[in-house]
Amino acid sequence: MSDFEDTIARDQRIEPGDAMPDGYRSTMIRQIAQHAHSEIIGMQPEGEWITRAPSLRRKAILLAKVQDEAGHGLYLYSAAETLGADRGDLTRRLIEGRQKYSSIFNYPTLTFADVGVIGWLVDGAAICNQVPLCRSSYGPYGRAMIRICKEESFHQRQGYELLMTMMGGTPGQRAMVQDAVNRWWWPSLMMFGPPDDRSPNSARSMAWKIKRHSNDELRQRYVDMSVPQAEALGVTLPDDELRWNADRGHYDFGTPDWAELTRVISGDGPCNAARIERRRRADEDGAWVREAAAAHARKREKVVV
Ligand code: 3HC
Repeated sequence: MSDFEDTIARDQRIEPGDAMPDGYRSTMIRQIAQHAHSEIIGMQPEGEWITRAPSLRRKAILLAKVQDEAGHGLYLYSAAETLGADRGDLTRRLIEGRQKYSSIFNYPTLTFADVGVIGWLVDGAAICNQVPLCRSSYGPYGRAMIRICKEESFHQRQGYELLMTMMGGTPGQRAMVQDAVNRWWWPSLMMFGPPDDRSPNSARSMAWKIKRHSNDELRQRYVDMSVPQAEALGVTLPDDELRWNADRGHYDFGTPDWAELTRVISGDGPCNAARIERRRRADEDGAWVREAAAAHARKREKVVV
């Protein structure tokens, strides 16, 4: 048994300087990069509402949340760099469509209720997915998840509180919340990935303890968590097959539209082109800042030497 295999078998962490199979390194870079890209692209849907928030308090909360997402992305790019990846290269791969980001961010945010539903359902799904990743076998990734999960908890709570406020408001506000729930529920279930029998990476990622639970296990955990929250909020979830199954001790639910997930992942979602174009423009507009910072660093190196 290699040191790597022994470390994994003993449920210990793999650290940047450790020997690791090329496949482990490449799938860790793949997953961490996709996660980082998701955080950065995920700033766009809600960021569009910062200038239109209905109060200073809502604006301040939304600003803090979007800023957190930026920090999560930078944190995760740093984790990818411990594996030898270059964040500039990863950004190019994203922009050129050679790396993915979460499908969920390719849907439009049509009303301010979407901001609350994203906090409640999307960040709630992120928490379900990310808490187990705190125990991921790759040290820098697992440790990054600890802080990210704490901040995601704030994201989910602020969204749920926003929705509770709107549900206590006018019939029009309540209808706005229900409309947002109807649009975001199924895409949130798709965040956990394809079904286990169509997940090409899961078996190896679970053998290497990168993933601790399968896509379907976490999806089920998320449904079981969300149904009581929806009842407390006073909204219905758009799934006629949703019902408690006492024999299983879980909620039965309908089948997400996997063809839709495949389409959105392949770039054919409602907002894919706009999201990538915005990311490309931001990367171009920020080039001078990166060049200036690099020039300053080179000058300092000369001075220090
Ligand atoms: N959106 C985009 N791509 C997806 C996807 C989705 N919802 N679900 C699966 N995929 C991709 C996978 O990346 C993989 O493609 P690749 O091999 O080219 O990378 C392919 O579809 C097959 O899926 P697998 O199940 O085999 O892939 P994984 O084992 O990687 O599982 C995953 C997919 C569960 C998303 C896993 O990658 C993961 O846990 N990633 C880390 C967490 C993450 O990225 N979460 C995204 C949410 S963003 C977020 O949380 C921000 C917060 O602020 C809301």
